Amino acid sequence: MAEFAYLIAVMAFVFGMRWLRHPDTAKKGNVLSALGMVIAVLTAIFQPLEGNQGNITWILVGLGLGTLIGLPLAKRVQMTSMPQLVAIFNGLGGASAMVLGFIEFQALLENGIQAPGRAGIILAALIIGAVSFSGSIIAFAKLEGLLKKDIAFPGYNIFNFGLLAAIVGLSIYSAAFGGGSTSYLVIITLLSLIYGISFVGPIGGADMPVVIALLNSLTGISAATSGLVYNNKAMLIGGVLVGASGAILTVLMCQAMNRSLWNVFFGKFVGTGGGEAVDGIMKEAGLSDVAIQLQYADSVMFVPGYGMAVAQAQKICKDVDDALTKNGVEVKYGIHPVAGRMPGHMNVLLAEADVPYDKLLDLDAANDFLKGSNVTVIIGANDVVNPAALTDKASPLFGMPILDVLQSDSVIVMKRGRGTGYSGVQNGLFFHDKTKLLFGDAKDSLKKLLDELGNS
Ligand code: TAP
Repeated sequence: MAEFAYLIAVMAFVFGMRWLRHPDTAKKGNVLSALGMVIAVLTAIFQPLEGNQGNITWILVGLGLGTLIGLPLAKRVQMTSMPQLVAIFNGLGGASAMVLGFIEFQALLENGIQAPGRAGIILAALIIGAVSFSGSIIAFAKLEGLLKKDIAFPGYNIFNFGLLAAIVGLSIYSAAFGGGSTSYLVIITLLSLIYGISFVGPIGGADMPVVIALLNSLTGISAATSGLVYNNKAMLIGGVLVGASGAILTVLMCQAMNRSLWNVFFGKFVGTGGGEAVDGIMKEAGLSDVAIQLQYADSVMFVPGYGMAVAQAQKICKDVDDALTKNGVEVKYGIHPVAGRMPGHMNVLLAEADVPYDKLLDLDAANDFLKGSNVTVIIGANDVVNPAALTDKASPLFGMPILDVLQSDSVIVMKRGRGTGYSGVQNGLFFHDKTKLLFGDAKDSLKKLLDELGNS
């Protein structure tokens, strides 16, 4: 019965993930995967295994507490804080693997390590879990703006390699050469936690998407390793699915940034600020001018970014799109792979506002569309449209493919003030001859624009 239930759970994960590939079916996919997880958890709890009896009260208390904390947290979280919530959930997954690894290794020590292979797997779960736990906490602090400076010091790469060598060396000694002891176990755990901090700490600015995807993958791998420890197939396959999809996402994010994984993690330190100084005058746009430009355009591209998520402007954006489309204007959306703060952030928001999926163009298609377009409206995007990425070798953004909005006849930028984007780099686009700025919260500006379109 238990094996059969695990099979159903795993099938739910796989088909759920398949449905997650398209926004139309993504919600269904999410529910199906969650259902699979419920089946897996219930099976694990009620499976009559040796040593499993008598734990029910503890498990239910844990589940109850987790639900009491997690449910309101997930319900109340603002869409803009979703990446932080994901980082925390990620970290907690890693923390579970770390604690399980610690307890299981301790149990091995009590009876003497008979099977070095099993001991190695347990330590791997502990180490990967600890790294993804402390790394995710740092990622959370960076995304939340609690940690504004990157943790980097001269020779941090050598320090990190040394730390890793110490962790691996101690683990091999403990698992394979009978040198295991509780003190070593504590040292391995502490070193792994420090490694998570010193590994993620120096990476910042526009490279964060890669780190987040990698931490995701690490959490999956630690869950899979725990699945091996407990011989639990659903845990193993679920972990492998998360680990593999996280790894694919890491590669995709690297491609989106046009950077190698090596360069992100061990390359030149990428901090905030830097690059050529940009100055000039930002020209302010009048609402009626923008409305007229848009009315008379043949083709318009909207470029949403993190600011659209902050303003929650996606629904009103769709209303403006509808008003223009009704007037015969061709409207498309240029979606940069790292726009916002999590992979697919813009797609999720626009799907929520019922924007048809075929209106969303990925980077290459959007850049083709931009070449013949009359007006580009930037809704709270900054780094993903920064031309310094193409021209300024000193810029931390250099090499990242961008939406080349200057190919369009004119550019309207909606933002609240003169602030920089996530990377802290000033954007020369805002000072360009073709560009005009519509200052204010994006939702307010779009509302006023919609009224203006109705009046003109
Ligand atoms: P950002 O570069 O972060 O720029 C956001 C812009 O929105 C800012 O110019 C800000 O200017 C404006 N803004 C903020 N609130 C607004 C509001 N209520 N109304 C109007 N404008 C508002 O965004 P982006 O272009 O989407 O780039 C994303 C960045 O985040 C990249 O550097 C990327 O590497 C990084 N990142 C991405 C991810 C993933 S996976 N997508 C994860 C972590 C980090 P004002 O303050 O002047 O309004």
